[in-house]
Amino acid sequence: MAHPDLLSRRRFLAAGAALASTPLWAAGTSSPAPGAWQPAAPFGDHPALAPLRGLQGQDLACDTLAVQGRWPAGLRGTLYRNGPGLMERAGQRYHHWFDGDGLVQAWRFDGEGGASHRARFVQTAKFRAEQAAGEFLVPAFGTAIAAKRPLRGPDDMNVANTSVLPLPGRLLALWEGGSAHALDPDTLATRGPVAWTPELTGMPFSAHPKVEPDGTVWNFGTAHDKLVLYQLDAAGALRRHAVTAMPPCAMVHDFVVTARFLVFLLAPLTLDMAAVRGGAAFTEAMRWQPVGGPQATRVLVVDKADFQRQRVLEIPACMVFHFANGWDDGNLITLDLVRAADYPRLDARLQDVARGEFRGSEPSRPALLQLDLRRGSHRWTLGEASVEFPVVDPRVVARRHRHTWCPAALSAGHERRFGFDSLLALDRERGTQQAFTFGPQAVVEEHVFVPRPGSTAEGDGWLLGTGYDITRRRSFASVFEARALSDGPVAVAWLPYALPYGFHGQFVAG
Ligand SMILES: [Fe+2]
Repeated sequence: MAHPDLLSRRRFLAAGAALASTPLWAAGTSSPAPGAWQPAAPFGDHPALAPLRGLQGQDLACDTLAVQGRWPAGLRGTLYRNGPGLMERAGQRYHHWFDGDGLVQAWRFDGEGGASHRARFVQTAKFRAEQAAGEFLVPAFGTAIAAKRPLRGPDDMNVANTSVLPLPGRLLALWEGGSAHALDPDTLATRGPVAWTPELTGMPFSAHPKVEPDGTVWNFGTAHDKLVLYQLDAAGALRRHAVTAMPPCAMVHDFVVTARFLVFLLAPLTLDMAAVRGGAAFTEAMRWQPVGGPQATRVLVVDKADFQRQRVLEIPACMVFHFANGWDDGNLITLDLVRAADYPRLDARLQDVARGEFRGSEPSRPALLQLDLRRGSHRWTLGEASVEFPVVDPRVVARRHRHTWCPAALSAGHERRFGFDSLLALDRERGTQQAFTFGPQAVVEEHVFVPRPGSTAEGDGWLLGTGYDITRRRSFASVFEARALSDGPVAVAWLPYALPYGFHGQFVAG
């Protein structure tokens, strides 16, 4: 039986948005366990930023989580997540949220209301060396640190902190600048960097691989004007790869796979190599500027059947970190994405929060971008909300979809506080939306879609993700019926400790 208090709150929440600020997930939780990690609050002037202080390199574990509500019986498996877990050593603090060492988490749910949690730092070469030295030894993406050990390539700075890719028998921790790191999926012990073939050793393998419903994995990596393309089979073995030229771009975070194409948006973002040689961090050396012509974002369309068949379109400058999905229909390609602020503004905010400062958010808006390959034209359809981390049902990857889910900032006054407070469901077919607002006490992280076992219809399943309760200074996982988002969570699993904010996760049933 669901906790009666939970059910009554759910009814209230469904009845009116006025009560949405009453967090059902705040009921019935106890004080933190003795010795549990709790970020000192506030961090700077904003308690919502406290998790960004980070851990000190220690692992975390809890065998029995407090679960409120009725955990769905078919929701059995592990939610893996990754994010920057360590931000400071020997009094030196990273300047950018993206810099922290990767902390991989496993939230395990037995389907009967039992849940456990474990978090371990990825034992990259960088992490092990710095852990032993007790100080930072190499430069980070956003922090200029003079190298105290030789830098032979990107993997010497690899923090493995962005996402995970579950493959049979292993879990990969991903970072877009270098190799994936293989972990034991049960213990999260690090096995080491992955070399797909000898000539691809150390080549970038992005943090946003796409897995088609048949298990085929597509991924890419970029280095200035080189694009590496990967196709893996469902067993995780490399089937095809290529290294091709592309219009220069300093950062390509995500991409889209459709039935026929791989699609990349290349923002007018270049790296000032003189600044890098002068000791600037990568992000300090990035320039938002035209690349040999009118300021534009280039759309690179690659034929999946022949990586050398490519097409480039130009659209007015824009920045996109995350795509939900995309599909092609004849000469039309539709991308479901989040349009971010231009990089310099966004980057400044990311540096602020790493210092414990918050000067307001830069809205990132849900959008559809339609590209007409025959005419070379494009059309934007922009939504109004501020969102990020969009997801779709994994059964619709690379094909037309109807539903998109994402964290959103919807509470009154959200612009004065870091992070998202709500979840939003967008119906791309009808143009309607549903939302659930946790309230101002919560910072809501990515929620992934988990199909209901035995179901086939898009959207039949749950939305499962994490968040942080600012008042209680502890983290939680919440689960929703995906098609009844506005009813509120059906269950919430509480940690006795807080976690640093993460970026992305994947669920593995079983
Ligand atoms: Fe990402």
